[in-house]
Formats: sequence, structure tokens, C-alpha cells
Amino acid sequence: MRKNDISSIIEIENTVIPDAWNANKFLQSINNKQYINLVYVDKNIVLAYLVAVSILNRYEILKIAVARKFQQQKIASKLLQNLFWQAKKNNIAAVDLEVREHNLAAINLYEKLGFKKVGVRKNYYFISDGYENALTYTLTLY
Ligand SMILES: CC(C)(COP(=O)(O)OP(=O)(O)OC[C@H]1O[C@@H](n2cnc3c(N)ncnc32)[C@H](O)[C@@H]1OP(=O)(O)O)[C@@H](O)C(=O)NCCC(=O)NCCS
Repeated sequence: MRKNDISSIIEIENTVIPDAWNANKFLQSINNKQYINLVYVDKNIVLAYLVAVSILNRYEILKIAVARKFQQQKIASKLLQNLFWQAKKNNIAAVDLEVREHNLAAINLYEKLGFKKVGVRKNYYFISDGYENALTYTLTLY
């Protein structure tokens, strides 16, 4: 991920993510060595991105999104495989994440790649008509 990718990322972010980050958050993430910032680019166009943070010997996924027109083409799976490859290279023990309990596309994606549900955070997300639980998932690498 480079600074020049941010405007394309924001376009995707604003169309597919309910609690979108602004450009400054992505810039901070690019400038922070603890963050892993991946983009999936095809023909010079950013189609997807992933942001994770490294904390001790674990990674936590903070963002993963694919432009709507390019979803269900295994792009998120490829970004996650790339993250796992980096994790193994860096001796990372596990990858953690949170997901909205009604986000079936994301839940299916994570479970397909071997993540296991480890907990529920009640009313974690604010939505227009109330709150939504977060499910926490972990993929253990060793
Ligand atoms: C969730 C998301 C990242 C998946 O990206 P993607 O590139 O479409 O996912 P993939 O093509 O790699 O799909 C892999 C698996 O995930 C599941 N999946 C993906 N999209 C799905 C959908 N719309 N409905 C049900 N399952 C879905 C399927 O199990 C799929 O495997 P299959 O194609 O063999 O059935 C994408 O839908 C997205 O950007 N959503 C909005 C942002 C978001 O919710 N991010 C996650 C926040 S926790």
C-alpha cells in the first residue's frame, strides 16, 4: 500500500464498509511500522486492501475490503493468504479479528480459511436501529 493508493481505497471504503476510515487513518497506518498494509492491484487499479497490526507475536486484522464489482473472485482469500505467509515468515503465532455477527460473507470467508470463533462481544457495533454483536475469530499458526 502506498500513499497514492489512498484515494482509490477511500472510494472502496465508502461503498462497502459501514464504519469507514478516513484518508488520514490510512496514512497513519502506512507510516506505522507495526502495521501491515496490503493492496490487491490489477491493471494499475486498486481492487482490494487489508490492514493488520502486529502486537507482540500476533497479528490483528483491522480492515479487509474488496470493491463491490470484484467480490466473490477470491481476492480477499488471496490477500489473507499473503498475510498468513508474512505471519509465518515473522514467527507470528496467531491472527485475530472481529466481525459483525450478520456479516455472513466475511464469516464464511474466515471460516473457510480456518479461523475459529473464540468469543462474542455483546452490542459492540452501533447500527442505525441499535447495536450488533461482534464475533471474535482466531487462526492459530503454531
Ligand atoms: C467479505 C469480503 C472481504 C469477501 O471478499 P471476496 O473477495 O468476495 O471473498 P472471496 O471471493 O475470497 O470468498 C472466499 C469465500 O468467502 C465466502 N464468501 C465471500 N463472499 C460471500 C458472499 N457474498 N456470501 C456468502 N459467502 C461469501 C465464501 O465461502 C467464499 O468461498 P466460495 O467462493 O468458494 O464460496 C467482501 O465481501 C467485502 O469486501 N465485504 C465488505 C467489507 C467487509 O465486510 N469486510 C470484512 C469486515 S470484518
